[in-house]
Amino acid sequence: MNNAEFFNQLARSRRSVFPDQFEAGKKIDDEIIKEILTNAVRAPNHGKEEPWRFTVFTGNGLKKLADFQSEFYKQNAGENFKEGTYLKLQQNPLKASHVIAVGMKRSVNKNIPEQEDIIAIGCAIQNIYLSVTAYGLGGYLTTGGVTYKEKAKAFFGLGEADKLLGFFYIGHVAVYVLPPLTTVILVLLCQ
Ligand SMILES: Cc1cc2nc3c(=O)[nH]c(=O)nc-3n(C[C@H](O)[C@H](O)[C@H](O)COP(=O)(O)O)c2cc1C
Repeated sequence: MNNAEFFNQLARSRRSVFPDQFEAGKKIDDEIIKEILTNAVRAPNHGKEEPWRFTVFTGNGLKKLADFQSEFYKQNAGENFKEGTYLKLQQNPLKASHVIAVGMKRSVNKNIPEQEDIIAIGCAIQNIYLSVTAYGLGGYLTTGGVTYKEKAKAFFGLGEADKLLGFFYIGHVAVYVLPPLTTVILVLLCQ
């Protein structure tokens, strides 16, 4: 298979794999996560500002993340509190092997609009998605929980001008879902 054929297959087989589809408790080698993040930081970024800040949670760290986000939700949800959401925030990190908090450290040295920092991180996230697929693992980005909560940012080493953009969950796949047929049909229609 040449590079183009390999990439076609990789990009077209990428899917989100959610925590309930993971083999709970099965750990991925940290070296693989380092390789995945090395690919992530090869993403294009304006002015070579490299605005991403990744915080990786694994082992006991997953419990720390789970406790932080579920308690934050409990303290701040007010009358919108839902027991189901609280339990998901408490349990989902523990189903993953690694969770990567995706932060944006705002570029300050150059006159780069904020949306360009965010686009660069979107590119890095896609590199993570494709790398996870290439390793035969599963994962997805969630923007739920504490993602857009200003008061939560400090926990992830982010300052006032920075943003928390989501969480990338990674695990071994127990239940795989095939890519949707609509994608193939759209490609054919464009020919
Ligand atoms: C910016 C962004 C935010 C997302 N946030 C969530 C989320 O909060 N919860 C969730 O279940 N999936 C989330 N996803 C994953 C999407 O649900 C998923 O990509 C979509 O269902 C398409 O499925 P696929 O990735 O398998 O093609 C997000 C994806 C992106 C790109």
